[in-house]
Amino acid sequence: MRLSLRFIIPLFLALGAIAYAVVPLVDKLTLQWFERDLDIRATLIANTVQEPLRDVIRAGDRTRLLQFFTRITEDERVFAVGLCPPGGGEPIATPTLPSAIKCAELARYSGEAGHLLKSPDGPLLVSVRPVEVEGAPGGTLVLVHDMSFVARRSEETRKYLFYFFVGLGATVALITVAIAQLSWRGWVHGLRALLRGEGLVRSDKPEVPELRPIARDLRALISDIEAEHRSRDDEQLAWTPDTLRAILHGELRGQEVIVVSNREPYIHVREGEDIAIWRPASGLVTALEPIMRACSGTWIAHGGGSADRDVVDSHDRLGVPPEHPAYQLRRVWLSPEQEAGYYYGFANEGLWPLCHIAHVRPTFRTADWEQYVAVNHKFAAAVVDEATSHDPIVLVHDYHFALLPRMIQETLPAATIVSFWHIPWPNPEAFGICPWRDELLDGMLGATILGFHTQFHCNNFVDTVDRLLEARVDREMFTVSYRGKLTAVKRYPISIEWPPSAELVGKPVEECRRDVRLRHDLPADHAIGVGIDRLDYTKGIEERLRAVERLLETHPEWAGKFTFIQIAAPTRGRIEQYQEYEGRVRAMAARINDRFASARFPPIELKVEHHQPEDIYEYYRAADLCMVTSLHDGMNLVAKEFVSSRDDERGVLILSRFTGAARELPEALIVNPYDTDECAAALHLALSMPAREQRARIRLMRGLVQDFNVYRWAGRMLIDAAAMRRHGRLLERAAGPDRQRRPVLHSGAGRRR
Ligand code: F6P
Repeated sequence: MRLSLRFIIPLFLALGAIAYAVVPLVDKLTLQWFERDLDIRATLIANTVQEPLRDVIRAGDRTRLLQFFTRITEDERVFAVGLCPPGGGEPIATPTLPSAIKCAELARYSGEAGHLLKSPDGPLLVSVRPVEVEGAPGGTLVLVHDMSFVARRSEETRKYLFYFFVGLGATVALITVAIAQLSWRGWVHGLRALLRGEGLVRSDKPEVPELRPIARDLRALISDIEAEHRSRDDEQLAWTPDTLRAILHGELRGQEVIVVSNREPYIHVREGEDIAIWRPASGLVTALEPIMRACSGTWIAHGGGSADRDVVDSHDRLGVPPEHPAYQLRRVWLSPEQEAGYYYGFANEGLWPLCHIAHVRPTFRTADWEQYVAVNHKFAAAVVDEATSHDPIVLVHDYHFALLPRMIQETLPAATIVSFWHIPWPNPEAFGICPWRDELLDGMLGATILGFHTQFHCNNFVDTVDRLLEARVDREMFTVSYRGKLTAVKRYPISIEWPPSAELVGKPVEECRRDVRLRHDLPADHAIGVGIDRLDYTKGIEERLRAVERLLETHPEWAGKFTFIQIAAPTRGRIEQYQEYEGRVRAMAARINDRFASARFPPIELKVEHHQPEDIYEYYRAADLCMVTSLHDGMNLVAKEFVSSRDDERGVLILSRFTGAARELPEALIVNPYDTDECAAALHLALSMPAREQRARIRLMRGLVQDFNVYRWAGRMLIDAAAMRRHGRLLERAAGPDRQRRPVLHSGAGRRR
């Protein structure tokens, strides 16, 4: 509108100026035309009346002459007619002949186009023509035409000219505004498409091939600038809680952050009369907790502890960490049926094995799916409930909440939703077996940004969408455009807090070594290896124990001198496969210990129990080696925790090549957990590795964890979220108020198949 006015006002001013110059010119020209016209008319009249006039003059009948003249003046344009005798004198004329016309002065009226005379009756045109009678001058005929009609005509001409210019202006303005609007829309559409990563292409119009290179270059340029900006930031910044806070207040203007995960960071558990606080064995919690302490905000999670309800306020909230509250924990309560269907069933019997491909068949039940949908709705409602603005930043975590992004987007369309998938994403064929695959993808694509640990998982996800959905996939920008919404698919390798908190690494390494050995009745010089996991079949604990057994077979000198302590936190114990797995791991440990019973100390110590983080760090610091043998793992933060715990620069990490961490920590001894001999050889290599080599390797790994710590992980997501927010707002502005997104009620992600 503003643009149109900016154009129309100058247009009308310019036309006004033109009209101002043109109208007098047209007046002048019209007057000249009429003068010439009337003069010709005068000649015509004079020629026509020559004959009768001669007769009357010859007859010398003055009365007849006057009657004759009066008849001529009946013509509406002829004002007066007169005859001047030769040589001057008084004219014989109609009474209307102006007295200013003197017969003695007729010479002044003898110009080519008559003479204009201003009289009280209005403008008059005086024309004179000689009259001959029998070859001698018979006098001069004076014809006076009334010119007042010219003024009337001129008035009309001005009016028509005015209408003409107004019409012209309006037409030009209309056409120009229409063209401008069309091309503006075209540009805006193109820009929107570019920002959405679609290129200058319309789904309803044929593609414009000539524009493709321009669109590609433009997108590449934008992406380069962003990447350069980000990498410059990444390199220059020391990633600390303060950096994260600065990003939040700078890039996101202190916008509120809401985190959603299934697992809560603090679990209140009833122990007799007391209430104990447990820190769960969860990579997700390890990573997110320091972020929330830095950012404040609200963390929404399932309240699963036996005393969880006893400590919340009337809004199911409590401030955490318990010692120094820094953020709000909002607990969501689930019925036993919901927990069974959503958590144990669909999430952990369906999606978990589906995504890990760890030789356990996924089980999909309709009843579980229904609970999964219902619980996702419940958490979506909690997000809406907790949001204090219409455009919060919502960080949705993990496979428990695949449907949540779409549900939130439908009720809070201006929210920026970052969904992070903490576990691997399988290839399209593997994912395609899920009966609710379309619904899951649809739910996830409600997010603004979808994050995975590795590029490999991003590729798998984009391949899956490309194969299963009618979506536009841009592999250059790594974006998916689906149902009018753009989702960026990005790699954010998760990490841990750096430096590790003093409560975790405060106890000196020597004390840790001594205390752990004392606890397990092992001598001071006894070599120790540790494995820290949830008791999960994806973690490769059986393969690890088999490797220890193989080490003792191939290097019997370690029998009685080396013990592998496996801490296995009980997890998902209601699921049959987990119960069986625990049984198999226990049996294997017992069998190996039996086999090497003659050694002074058992080769395996299996501790199936929950440990608090400080206890786990004590084991890390006491160990000579740490073994991570996941069969498939998104990242595996145990590897990074071990590295961060070793400020003495000692200890060797043995790491499965099937973890995301293996891509970042190549200085570890990288193994294939299915290759028992390779793992056993790695154990021997680690146990015999000189201190200098240990130091060299762990220094490099510590450097990486320091630089790529969890603040950087979260910071990069928030920076990208801020950029997407800016893009989104730009598009909304370009779309105009009528096209701005409006809240709509949820349309049923829980569609039954
Ligand atoms: O780290 C992967 C992960 O699945 C987390 O998402 C989860 O919190 C953790 O393992 C532990 O699983 P659970 O919460 O089921 O005990």
